[in-house]
Amino acid sequence: MQDLSPKQIVKELDKYIIGQDKAKKAVSIALRNRIRRQRLAEELREEVSPKNIIMIGPTGVGKTEIARRLSNLADVPFLKIEATKFTEVGYVGRDVESMVRDLTNMTVNLVKQEAMKKIEKEAMDLTEDKILDILLPMPKPKRAKKVDAAEWDRVGQEAEKILSSREKLLEKLRQGKLENRMIEIDVKDTSAPMLEIFAGSGMEGLDMGLSDALSTMLPQKLKKRKVTIAEARRILISEESQKLIDMEEVLKDAISRIENQGIIFLDELDKVVSIGARSGGPDVSREGVQRDLLPIVEGTVVNTRYGPVKTNHILFIAAGTFHDAKPSDMIPELQGRFPIRVELSSLTKDDFIQILTEPQNAIIKQYVALLGTEEVDLRFQEDAIHEIASIASTVNDSTENIGARRLHTIIEKVVEDISFETPPRKGVVVIDAEYVQSRLKDIIKNEDLSRYIL
Ligand SMILES: Nc1ncnc2c1ncn2[C@@H]1O[C@H](COP(=O)(O)OP(=O)(O)O)[C@@H](O)[C@H]1O
Ligand SMILES: [Mg+2]
Repeated sequence: MQDLSPKQIVKELDKYIIGQDKAKKAVSIALRNRIRRQRLAEELREEVSPKNIIMIGPTGVGKTEIARRLSNLADVPFLKIEATKFTEVGYVGRDVESMVRDLTNMTVNLVKQEAMKKIEKEAMDLTEDKILDILLPMPKPKRAKKVDAAEWDRVGQEAEKILSSREKLLEKLRQGKLENRMIEIDVKDTSAPMLEIFAGSGMEGLDMGLSDALSTMLPQKLKKRKVTIAEARRILISEESQKLIDMEEVLKDAISRIENQGIIFLDELDKVVSIGARSGGPDVSREGVQRDLLPIVEGTVVNTRYGPVKTNHILFIAAGTFHDAKPSDMIPELQGRFPIRVELSSLTKDDFIQILTEPQNAIIKQYVALLGTEEVDLRFQEDAIHEIASIASTVNDSTENIGARRLHTIIEKVVEDISFETPPRKGVVVIDAEYVQSRLKDIIKNEDLSRYIL
């Protein structure tokens, strides 16, 4: 996925998001520029800072969806978070630095999973060996006797026999024929009450590295446990994997990926922008969050439990309706850090028709598939789809414009009776414009009713 060109990225996004070409183009260029930057000589690479983006557009037109799809597409550390989650440093709540810590935790886990994948086979081999050792231990020379050539000979012969039985046993083990047999294994005793006190304190800053440090300081006690082979395999493979993985390497890799390729999607940015400057008296706490955001966007070092993380080259993509507050109401320093602004347009009836039918996960396709599992062959006629799109448009105009979200409530209403029927009416069920109207006409006529139901 690293090698997608901007055009290919747009093409991938096209599979899920209708229209909004400007936004797609902007994010695809930004993503590609990360890769380009990596190829620069080191001196220049440090100089090139990411061109952060603000996506501006009404609700329900695809802002969050673009971010979501982008994160699946780009195989890079990606965090999506609402700006409204944060409170100013010094107040109760989450401080903005926590987003870098979240991204770090996520990425470390991800990189660790990758590393696990690589040693999976090796860990499984070791695990199977361990289980076999318990079921059918290899012979040892008897202690009491003097270990002479004859004794070694005896051990050798016995070992040969046991090896061949182990082979057969291994086969059974792999076929899952021994899953429920009980064996006794040594497990690490993880019940260390001390750790929980710290973990439960909820102080992110304090927690950093502390429990990790403690767990390495405390002596690892071993405890005997009787478990099924299935369970033993789960426990042992995790232990063996931990031993095989080079955690230092994992951390180095994870932090380098965050620092060079990380993307943070800041949703609802406009909600921390106050229009106070215009309507008298600035909103202190919102501006405080902006002030806290600034150093992170500009580039700072955030201490995480896995070590310091530089934010200079993390790409920020922000989004918001900016209905009341405008980007120019942000504190000037922050404005300067988001040089790229793209507007997403509100959706028309034609867009709705496409959204209903075209994306890979289109709503219509979802309902057809859902009912298909009960042998209902749901068929939406073209005129029905036009009718749904047109109703969505009308309701958006007459009540509140919530964009494509409206389609979900309308369709749900349209198929309600069909979904409710038990046992389902098997076979072909056709939905045409008339059916759509009959389901919705009473609701649409009454504006108050549509406010509640649609
Ligand atoms: N342009 C679009 N193409 C396809 N689906 C869309 C589009 N805009 C919105 N949707 C759908 O509408 C819903 C809300 O979109 P979302 O991206 O969350 O809106 P917002 O712009 O408020 O972040 C999602 O289920 C999404 O799939
Ligand atoms: Mg959104």
